[in-house]
Order: sequence, then C-alpha cells, then structure tokens
Amino acid sequence: MSASGVCLPLVVILLALARVSHALTSDQASFIAHRQLLSLKENDDLPADFEYEIDVTVTFANRRLKRAYVALQTWKKAIYSDPFNTTGNWDGPNVCEYTGVFCAPALDDPSLDVVAGVDLNHADIAGYLPTELGLLTDVALFHVNSNRFCGVIPKSFSKLILMHEFDISNNRFVGGFPKVVLTWPAVKFIDIRYNDFEGKLPPELFLKELDAIFLNNNRFTSTIPDTVGKSTASVVVFAYNKFTGCIPRTIGNMTNLNEIIFLNNHLGGCFPDELGTSRCWRLQTTS
Ligand SMILES: *[C@@H]1O[C@H](CO)[C@@H](O)[C@H](O)[C@H]1NC(C)=O
Ligand SMILES: *[C@@H]1O[C@H](CO)[C@@H](O)[C@H](O)[C@H]1NC(C)=O
Repeated sequence: MSASGVCLPLVVILLALARVSHALTSDQASFIAHRQLLSLKENDDLPADFEYEIDVTVTFANRRLKRAYVALQTWKKAIYSDPFNTTGNWDGPNVCEYTGVFCAPALDDPSLDVVAGVDLNHADIAGYLPTELGLLTDVALFHVNSNRFCGVIPKSFSKLILMHEFDISNNRFVGGFPKVVLTWPAVKFIDIRYNDFEGKLPPELFLKELDAIFLNNNRFTSTIPDTVGKSTASVVVFAYNKFTGCIPRTIGNMTNLNEIIFLNNHLGGCFPDELGTSRCWRLQTTS
C-alpha cells in the first residue's frame, strides 16, 4: 500500500505532462514528417559547400548570425502551426530579438554575439527540424519541449558541438535513439521523454559525462545496457518503455546516482539486490 502511495505523485505528474500539447492527428503528423523527408539533403547532413536556399541580402553583425538567420528562417518555413504566434517576430536580420532565441558572446571570440540558445518550450508548434539547424553551431541549449515537432533529429545536429542541454521532450519525434547526442562532447542533460523513439539504447549513452538522462514514455525495446553502471548521471528515467530482461547489476556502481526509475517496462524476474524491495521499481539512493 505505502509503496504504491509513494509512486502515485510521480505517475500523476507524468500523465499530466502528456496532455500539454493539442492533439495532432496521425495524418497531420505523417504529412509533416513526409515534408521533412522531402527536404532532407543526402544523409540529412550539411555538406561543407552548403548553399543557402534563403535569399540573404541583408547585412549582419557577423557571419555566424547570418548562418543563424538562414537556420531560423528555414525552420520557420518548416512550421505548419504556431497557435501562440511564437515565431511571429522571426523576421529580419536581428535574430537575437526573435522570441525564444538567445544570444551571448561567442565562447571562442567574446567580441562576437552569437545565438547561444533556443527555448521554444510549451509553444505547441507543429512542424519539423530542418537540416539547416546544423548551422546553429554556437548553441549550447536547445529546448523545444511540449510542441508538436515530428520526424527525426537530423544528422546535421552533430555540428552543434557546444550542446549542453538538449530537451526535445513531449513532441512527436520518431526513429531510433537520436545518436547525434553521442557526438556532443559537452552535453550534460538529455531529455527525450514523451516521444515515439524506438529500438535499442546505444551502450555509449551511459559512457558520456551526463548529469541527467530522461528516456521515459517512448517505445524503447531490448535490454538496458550494462554500461549504465558507468554512468555519471544523478537521474536516469527508463519508465514507460518496453525494456525487457534484467535490471543490470552494474547499477550498484553508479557513483552520482540520486534516482533511477524503471516503472512500467517489461523487466522481470531478476531484480538485483541493489534495487531493494520497492514494489514500483522506483529506486532512491543517497550517497
Ligand atoms: C504575430 O506576431 C506578429 C509580430 O509580432 C504580428 O505582426 C502578427 O500580426 C501576429 N499574428 C497574429 C495572427 O496574431
Ligand atoms: C563495480 O566496480 C568494481 C570496481 O571497478 C568492479 O570490480 C565490479 O565488478 C563492479 N560491479 C559490477 C556489478 O559491475
């Protein structure tokens, strides 16, 4: 009784989050994803000799802001519904004034202002992420939670090597685990919960120096990689997926762990002693 009582607030919070977005019908989602497919360049990567398809005649404070302008204008074209008019002021060369776009001095050249972050949380936008977003090479924070973005995370995102926080939760993304996140050297926070990602988790995910990993409410299958024991994360959430097999014994070796949640998967029959006896598989340890 008391064990399930402890879990109830968590479940309620998770369910409430799921309702934030307006419904997007499957037809609309597949239409938008199809548009993304049509627009993706070969391998959805950015070629070195990438040609701008947006006519850029205005002048910019620096070259990186011009590239950001191309990225953001292309993104605006890939938006099919923007109920709060969040991108209504995404016009003209002053990209630092765009709603949800944040500029800061470049890390490698403080004399230049560059786009350092994008935060479109709770904008309820429907659309997709175009390849050109790979031009936002100064972005350290990319937050688009609670929108209706569809399709896949383009490979060109591997160009965003300063990425620190990546939150794409509560959207309609599909495909395998977005492996671009494994290419970012400085990433600390990965939140991809409430999407339709499927398949296996790459074992390398847990070898990165992450603080938080939210994977819940997707369609991940297969076993949880043993490498989880090497993770530096303090929070890891596997809940509401289709993981099978055992919870790896290696979790006893996680050095910074505060919370790891396995709720609602197909794990069974082989819980390690490290998990204790919690009925709802919510493990709380304090170091
Ligand atoms: C959206 O915002 C822009 C810029 O603020 C404004 O000009 C436009 O009228 C707005 N559109 C709607 C439908 O509110
Ligand atoms: C935990 O780490 C220790 C020391 O590296 C190692 O000997 C042990 O096998 C690990 N335990 C598990 C379950 O992986």
